[in-house]
Amino acid sequence: MLNVVVLISGTGSNLRALLEAIDDAERTGTPMGARVVAIGADTPEANLALATERGIPTFVVRPRDYENRAAWGDALLQEVQRFTPDLTILSGFMRLVPPAFVEALAPALLNTHPAFLPEFPGAHAVRDAMAAGATQTGATIMIVDNGVDTGPIIEQQRIPIHPEDTEATLHERIKVVERDLLIRTVQGIANGTINLKEIAA
Ligand code: GAR
Repeated sequence: MLNVVVLISGTGSNLRALLEAIDDAERTGTPMGARVVAIGADTPEANLALATERGIPTFVVRPRDYENRAAWGDALLQEVQRFTPDLTILSGFMRLVPPAFVEALAPALLNTHPAFLPEFPGAHAVRDAMAAGATQTGATIMIVDNGVDTGPIIEQQRIPIHPEDTEATLHERIKVVERDLLIRTVQGIANGTINLKEIAA
């Protein structure tokens, strides 16, 4: 069984899709071989109800409670490691994690990103793609390294940008694809068809 810890900052809709896919697979007698053992956040505003309604443990580690980013990262890592995860996913976690955090968990540390990396890295990928006048963008699942969205890519897909798109409509269409990619990635890691060490090598 692949034990997964997921970190979020906001609505957690991609996480919800993953939780539902795990539940559906269980119900239909084809278990995914993965379970979410804890959900963490960097802010109490994050949608942790997703976890509590399912009886999944939660934790919040706020940067402002720590002297610096490294100390915050150490505290976050300690919380994550309490659950001895096989995989940790940053799913709409809107903060850069410090190097010690990456070193402790990578390559089993994934991030989902709403663009076709290496295009449009960073916190405003959807807005940046539109501002650049791009006609297509995408969604990417990758292994986290110490750069900003520079890690090895596991899955990605192109998504067209329509002339009538707003940032919100485009982001919503991207998330539909991201959810599929995320579920497929967790499935692949659980059943051994995706080997993170090989991808990271
Ligand atoms: C997702 O599109 C994710 O890729 C993005 O935040 C959204 C979270 O949505 N993450 C980043 O932009 C990280 N740089 P959700 O909270 O509804 O799942």
